[in-house]
Amino acid sequence: ETVEWEAASYDMGGHDTYMHKEISEQPDAVDRVLRGRIDDRFNTVHLGGLNLDAREARGIRRVKILGCGTSYHAGLIGAGLIESLARIPADAEPASEFRYRNPVVDPDTLYIAVSQSGETYDVLAAVQELKRKGARVLGVVNVVGSAIAREADGGTYVHAGPEVCVVSTKCFTNTVVAFALLALHLGRIRDLSVAEGKRIIEGLRKLPAQISEILESEDEIKKLAEQYADAKSMMFIGRVRGYPVALEASLKLKEISYIHAEAYPASELKHGPLALIEPALPTVAIVPDDELLEKNRAALEEIKARSGRILAVAHREQEKADHTIVVPKNEDELDPILMGIPLQLLAYHTALALGRDIDKPRNLAKSVTVE
Ligand code: AGP
Repeated sequence: ETVEWEAASYDMGGHDTYMHKEISEQPDAVDRVLRGRIDDRFNTVHLGGLNLDAREARGIRRVKILGCGTSYHAGLIGAGLIESLARIPADAEPASEFRYRNPVVDPDTLYIAVSQSGETYDVLAAVQELKRKGARVLGVVNVVGSAIAREADGGTYVHAGPEVCVVSTKCFTNTVVAFALLALHLGRIRDLSVAEGKRIIEGLRKLPAQISEILESEDEIKKLAEQYADAKSMMFIGRVRGYPVALEASLKLKEISYIHAEAYPASELKHGPLALIEPALPTVAIVPDDELLEKNRAALEEIKARSGRILAVAHREQEKADHTIVVPKNEDELDPILMGIPLQLLAYHTALALGRDIDKPRNLAKSVTVE
């Protein structure tokens, strides 16, 4: 699985920033991670480099995903996909936390290291410690031949192409799609039916066009960003599948706009953060049309009752929200992929309105190769 990148990939291609270029590349990037991997005959997916046969895949009792920052957030969505499609208990943890807490390393657990660069020291150190203890570790990595890719027992490349901007966008999206492929692959070896496999494949195939559709609403998102750019702090909420989307959107906003932001599960609002709600603290709410819609709407009501401003990302207009960014609906499991995209643009245009150096945010480096 090798893709050669020409120097032209590093050209700005008419965009003002690499971040904007990389956000815009997502329909093609997603197309690339899907290409050649879908098997319509068995409604499954083939991932060449996993080095995990069907018998081994059936023997997995747990999945533990490790990464940092945006890759950790992609891993959280990945864990949800593996639980729901493959019915294997799965969770994600920041790699640095994992390696410092002397974790129990279990031979029946599949460990997955996630990294755009493949060079993040905390992730590499976690992989090395796991390998030393005899664990099986897969890599979900963007940079071909990187240290983590070499150290892992197998894995899959996410084929996002070179990501130059310090903040990760297209690689986040492609990593989540790669997890959907892995979850489908494991699911079809275990209990996921042919019909369910087909449903997810059809959803995956819709993603590139749906991402293009979202990117077309950039002007509308830019106007919203300009309205919210005066905020000193913002709250991001989501539930279950929507919570990692909230975490990632809040990280993106912090990194490039320097606006303080925090992400909470919507269900946790009443356990504390509701005290913060007032007109000066806008909330960005992830409100998919799924089995939790009514619960999420109740959270919007709670916020509105305290005069909080609300920007919803939803599949249809939310009357309790001051503004709604409407995104196209996919399968429930794949919706987080699409709901993250307008929030990349929201962070981008907020930072632009504030005159920030978007491609080189202060105090940050593209890969953190030190402890
Ligand atoms: C993303 O916007 C960040 N700059 C950062 O959190 C990054 O995702 C993290 O450092 C992990 O990097 P990696 O994916 O290259 O391992």
